[in-house]
Amino acid sequence: MIPAVGGAKHPVLGNSTEDQTHRLKNLGDCFAWARSKIGRRDSERLLEYALGTTTSQLYTNPSLDVTTESAKYLSGLVSRRSSGEPVEYIIEECYFWTQKLQITSDVLIPRPETEILVESALQFLKDGDRVLDLGTGSGAIALALSSELNLKVVATDIDLNALNLSRENIDQLGFDIELVQSDWYSSIKGVFDVIVSNPPYVAIGDPLLTKSGLRYEPLVALASDKNGLEALETVIFGSTKYLEDGGSLLVEHGFNQRDQVMSMFNTAGFLNISCRNDFSDVPRVVFGQKGE
Ligand SMILES: C[S@@+](CC[C@H](N)C(=O)[O-])C[C@H]1O[C@@H](n2cnc3c(N)ncnc32)[C@H](O)[C@@H]1O
Repeated sequence: MIPAVGGAKHPVLGNSTEDQTHRLKNLGDCFAWARSKIGRRDSERLLEYALGTTTSQLYTNPSLDVTTESAKYLSGLVSRRSSGEPVEYIIEECYFWTQKLQITSDVLIPRPETEILVESALQFLKDGDRVLDLGTGSGAIALALSSELNLKVVATDIDLNALNLSRENIDQLGFDIELVQSDWYSSIKGVFDVIVSNPPYVAIGDPLLTKSGLRYEPLVALASDKNGLEALETVIFGSTKYLEDGGSLLVEHGFNQRDQVMSMFNTAGFLNISCRNDFSDVPRVVFGQKGE
């Protein structure tokens, strides 16, 4: 535990209002100071990134010297995190499925609940299948699926910056995924065995968008018209033209959108429509098969 600062000056943490970076002489000082500001887990990640240490060094080698320059750099990162910026944007990486991805503020930070979409899609896939990932962002879903099976994947996004980043992730991880800039289906050719999408589904104007870490993420990745349902509607109703008979569509959706999404699947003629809940038991992924 970090001792409470209280009225007296802690030898390293000092008074909370003054710049304390000149006091941060070694790893232990830096870790204690960062923990007092942003908690243990984020401190570990920022120290690893800023100082090039490993997590175990933070615990086993606290007397390792830290230069003033490094301490100042760390202090800048801690202050960004304290202001609410997600740690993934600061360290420019995140883990999704089994892979480490490069992340910038041009793309949504892939969420653990999206792994349920990946897991569900894998049930319908086999080697050689064709997959379309609509709104790929960092490439997270396309890359996760490609890491499990030998697939022919086309991944799309409307946003060129997102496509550039997904290209870097795809090249870095060594997969062969075709990228297409497309407004949903507008530039898509051919048919697919499975279509997956985690489209924007937060209602435009939802106060959540300006609060918490969401305010750092691109609006194009988060928000959609028609109370958050417009993109889902386009993805679902457009899909039948691009799916093989018997092919599957899987979409992620908002916590309160299950009934409307299942009803859209039904209206679009899908069969075997089902929903999976996320780790918090919130309805999160709907899927179904195009009728033969
Ligand atoms: C919720 S993010 C999902 C990103 C990534 N697939 C993931 O799960 O982490 C939605 C993505 O859809 C893209 N998008 C938004 N509108 C689009 C459109 N009209 N056509 C294609 N992609 C779109 C955004 O740029 C963003 O990358």
